[in-house]
Amino acid sequence: MLNELVQKSRSYRSFKAGAIIPRETLLELVELTRSCPAAMNLQPLKYRLVTDEKERSALLALTRWAAALSQKLPPEGHEPTGFIVICHDTAIASQKPIFSIDVGIAAQTIMLGACERGFGGCIIGSAKAEEVSSLLKLPETVTPVLILGLGVPDERVVLTEAKDGEVKYYRDENNTHFVPKRPLEELIV
Ligand SMILES: Cc1cc2nc3c(=O)[nH]c(=O)nc-3n(C[C@H](O)[C@H](O)[C@H](O)COP(=O)(O)O)c2cc1C
Repeated sequence: MLNELVQKSRSYRSFKAGAIIPRETLLELVELTRSCPAAMNLQPLKYRLVTDEKERSALLALTRWAAALSQKLPPEGHEPTGFIVICHDTAIASQKPIFSIDVGIAAQTIMLGACERGFGGCIIGSAKAEEVSSLLKLPETVTPVLILGLGVPDERVVLTEAKDGEVKYYRDENNTHFVPKRPLEELIV
């Protein structure tokens, strides 16, 4: 059921050590995006799969996870075991805001596909784009936009109802991660 999948597909920031997400799975997830809607059907998005261990840790060092929390995430030894870097290719279309919507659609499609296959991860927007480009030796026309860190989640994430507009995520003493979501009646205008 879609509802179940959407509920289960949370942002996970700690992963089971050694539970490598296979490159073929990453390819399957990118394959899913080929059927996504795309503004003007131009499809300017490109994807870089990062599976090599050294490249993974170098990429991880360029990203910021859960800036709102004081603890270091992902914890040592619980890093993502694969990444998909969503990029925009200006050789196809210049980088207009409308294409950010394509990026969001692709990102959520990948995250849902990962969840359905027993994986999970986190969408990372906070990254040093220029350094990511040079680390991954991306062609000049290809700009990294969003990074998806993936693996087998090993933490508990719980959705709660936001009260009085308080939407900051937090963790309890058991390291359970709570994510307040605004109630339905507040979403309807
Ligand atoms: C566009 C976008 C950018 C994000 N960037 C980051 C990020 O840089 N670092 C991070 O830890 N989480 C990032 N997140 C994850 C959000 O913090 C997360 O979606 C939010 O806390 C709600 O949790 P949930 O995904 O479990 O519902 C991002 C999410 C989106 C959609």
